[in-house]
Amino acid sequence: MANIGIFYGSSTGNTRDVSEKLQNAFGVDNADLHNIADTDIETLTRYNNLIFAVSTWGAGDLQDDWEDFFPNLDTIDFTGKKVAVMCLGDQENYPDFFADAMVILTEKVAELGGTVVGETSIDGYSFDVSKSARNGKFAGLVIDEDSQSDKTDQRIGKWVERLRSAFK
Ligand SMILES: Cc1cc2nc3c(=O)[nH]c(=O)nc-3n(C[C@H](O)[C@H](O)[C@H](O)COP(=O)(O)O)c2cc1C
Repeated sequence: MANIGIFYGSSTGNTRDVSEKLQNAFGVDNADLHNIADTDIETLTRYNNLIFAVSTWGAGDLQDDWEDFFPNLDTIDFTGKKVAVMCLGDQENYPDFFADAMVILTEKVAELGGTVVGETSIDGYSFDVSKSARNGKFAGLVIDEDSQSDKTDQRIGKWVERLRSAFK
């Protein structure tokens, strides 16, 4: 088992593909990749360094597989666990709900005693409202494969560098 567990939920494959990039950026020996649709509570609980990767659906909702798993989080003690959230969204078509799924996970983790790591600046994105943004920061990393896919690799590279220290 690697030191970091990445747990993704993906409906059309974008979050899965970006999570694979994330895993490769850490190195496959350092990070395991799990589809949240096939994950049990015990598997997730084994990791102290976690990345939750989720896309935003509906109007600011969690992706379906993450929505199904969500009630299980309440049974996990997050004390001593560090959790970073990567959220996919589409700022052009959903500028009023941009990447809102992120905050659903970060608030839940914080409520359950976990430490949320990996906030990033909102600079470089263009949207009207996002519940995931506060004081010029997103609570984690936002990726937009629909309108800014050219920025994805660089965003991941920078985030992974910062998470390496946060997860130490
Ligand atoms: C029906 C529908 C609803 C969506 N709702 C939102 C939304 O509320 N906020 C947002 O930022 N993106 C929204 N998106 C964009 C998706 O989050 C984005 O396309 C994402 O890359 C999908 O990732 P996935 O294939 O891993 O599920 C929506 C997309 C669709 C098709």
